[in-house]
Amino acid sequence: MSDLRWVAVCELDDLVPQRGVAALLEGRQIALFRVMPEDEVLAIANRDPFSEANVLARGIVGSVGDTVVVASPMYKQHFDLRAGRSIEHPDVAVDTFRTRVCRGVVEIGLRW
Ligand code: FES
Repeated sequence: MSDLRWVAVCELDDLVPQRGVAALLEGRQIALFRVMPEDEVLAIANRDPFSEANVLARGIVGSVGDTVVVASPMYKQHFDLRAGRSIEHPDVAVDTFRTRVCRGVVEIGLRW
């Protein structure tokens, strides 16, 4: 079992609703999204496995059925922001990260 460590990233108010932003955390690029209407922060790896470009933070947030997704700006594959899976290619997934908002500060859970 690996331990979860919470790392502060930014203020919740720094994030624009329904938009993504990239953060560099200990050498890893992470894409954060502030998702409405729950006003929740979801985090996945920023790297698009299809194009191998670090671009997912710049994708468009939307939904496929009940699933909150981001569409890659490269080839438009959709990724489930909670599970990381590609909607079109469920065998392909990006890493997901736990998040929490602690006194207005967004924190990401990293594993050793
Ligand atoms: S985790 Fe910090 S106030 Fe709850």
